[in-house]
Amino acid sequence: MEQPQPVLVETVDLTKVYGDGEQVYALNKVNLRITAGELVAVMGPSGSGKSTLLNLLGALDTPTSGKVLVRGEDLAALRDKDRFRAKTVGFVFQLHNLIPTLTARENVEVPMMGYYSAAQRRARALELLAMVGLADRANHLPAQLSGGQRQRVAIARALANDPLIVLADEPTGNLDSQASLDLMRLIAELNRLKGTTFVVVTHDFAVARQTRRVLTMADGRIVREDLIGSPLEEDLKMWRYSGLGQRIYEGKLEELQMLGIKPKQQRAIRKLLELAEQP
Ligand SMILES: Nc1ncnc2c1ncn2[C@@H]1O[C@H](COP(=O)(O)OP(=O)(O)O)[C@@H](O)[C@H]1O
Ligand SMILES: [Mg+2]
Repeated sequence: MEQPQPVLVETVDLTKVYGDGEQVYALNKVNLRITAGELVAVMGPSGSGKSTLLNLLGALDTPTSGKVLVRGEDLAALRDKDRFRAKTVGFVFQLHNLIPTLTARENVEVPMMGYYSAAQRRARALELLAMVGLADRANHLPAQLSGGQRQRVAIARALANDPLIVLADEPTGNLDSQASLDLMRLIAELNRLKGTTFVVVTHDFAVARQTRRVLTMADGRIVREDLIGSPLEEDLKMWRYSGLGQRIYEGKLEELQMLGIKPKQQRAIRKLLELAEQP
C-alpha cells in the first residue's frame, strides 16, 4: 500500500474582503486541504476568487480573517516571507513576466540569486530548461520564443529553487488549445516525476482534465469538487461503454472472432477495462 501523503497546505475559514463601503467577499470562509504531491485544478467564472486564493496561498497577500497553514505553519506567523516565497513557492502567471532583455537561461536564474553560486545557477538553469524541453533555447530572448515556450521558461523559473508547491494562475490563458494541452501535460509530467505539488487555475476543461482534482469556485467559495482518473483511465472508461468495449467486457467471443480479435488480445483488453472499472 502507498503511504498517505501529508497535508501540505490547509486553509481555515480563509476570507478576503475588499472595499470599505461596498464590501466584496473575494474569498468567503474557504476550507481546503492540499496534499503533498497533488495536482489540482481550480476553475470558476471571472471574479469568483481564484486569483485571490492563489495569492493568499503564496503569501503574496494577507487574509482579512482565517488562515493558511503550510506544513502546519501559519503563514501569518512567518518571520521571513520573502524567503518563503523564494524557496517554498513557485509562481506562474498568465503573462509569463519574463525579463525581455535576459535570455531564457538568465531568466530561470533570477530566483536563484542569493541562494546559489553563479556556476550552480547556470547548471541548474540549463538542467531545468532541458526538463521543460527547451535545452536548445537557453540563449534565446523571450521575444524569440513562442507563447508556449515562454510559459515553459516561466515553469522552469518557478521550479528554480525546488519549491514544495507551484501556483499557476491561468498559465494557458494566452495559448491556443494545442499549446495549452501541451503545457498542462508538461505540468502533469513534472508533478509525477518531481513530486512537486501544483495548483493550476484554468478556464479550459481539456486542461483541467489532466489533473486529478478539480475545484470549482463561485462567489468566493469552493462550490464543487471533482475527482478525475488519469486521462488513460478516463479514456478506457469511455471505451468500455462503446459497442466494441462492451462486447469484449461481456466476453462475446464469436462476435469478436468475426472481427478478427484474437482470444489473447481479448483477454489483455478485458484486463485493462477491468482496471479502469476499479475505483
Ligand atoms: N485589489 C482588489 N481590490 C478590490 N477588489 C478586488 C481586488 N482584487 C480582487 N477584487 C475582487 O475580488 C473578487 C475576486 O477576484 P479574483 O480573485 O481576481 O477573481 P478571479 O481570479 O476568479 O477572476 C472580484 O469581485 C474582484 O473584483
Ligand atoms: Mg484571476
